[in-house]
Amino acid sequence: MKSNFFITLEGGEGTGKSTQARLLADFLEKNGHPCVLTREPGGSEGAEEIRNLVVKGDVARWDVMTEALLMFAARRDHLVKTVWPAMKEGKTVICDRFADSTMAYQGFGYADRGLGQMTVEQIYKIVVGDFKPDLTIILDMPVEAGVARAVKRDANINRYEKMGLDFHRNLRNAFLEIEKKEPMRCTVIDANRTIEEISADIISVVRARLLKA
Ligand code: TMP
Repeated sequence: MKSNFFITLEGGEGTGKSTQARLLADFLEKNGHPCVLTREPGGSEGAEEIRNLVVKGDVARWDVMTEALLMFAARRDHLVKTVWPAMKEGKTVICDRFADSTMAYQGFGYADRGLGQMTVEQIYKIVVGDFKPDLTIILDMPVEAGVARAVKRDANINRYEKMGLDFHRNLRNAFLEIEKKEPMRCTVIDANRTIEEISADIISVVRARLLKA
């Protein structure tokens, strides 16, 4: 039976991914699964540098293909330097966002200008290959509530938090579609509840899908 996993948390802005990633790592550590907690874009020295290029600055700073390639360049560095070495050592990696964010944001967020599913999947295949998360937890909540939470949390709002509500609605739909297409890998969790309730749901999914498998 497999004892270390690659688990990703996904969702729109302000859905509480980072808090839930930490709580999940605490639970798994207590249950004998050493964890590495990481994030995208970022999680390695080079990828954190690329992160600054994409999250800061003008909304229209990048053409959408350039933005997707920067995300995948950061992802490749993160996988090579952080994720794959940790997994080789038998650790579970919990990652705050991964490639489903590229599918949602660069694939569908920009509506007509988005890259769409096939292009993002093709880049994924070249950059990442067959590697994919064992489990993806999609935190879902109404976009108005999520964006309001994200803006309140952080005075220096990032490029994506400045996009209009339509952009965020497209993201939410894209994440829900991803779960419909890959229900074995993904699960949607209602994030419009207390931290404790959400965490309890995540832990029960992890128990059912990974720890008992
Ligand atoms: P974070 O603040 O949630 O850590 O993520 C930074 C921003 O980067 C967030 O607004 C979503 C965006 N993003 C993409 O647009 N595409 C991606 O592939 C990833 C990983 C993040």
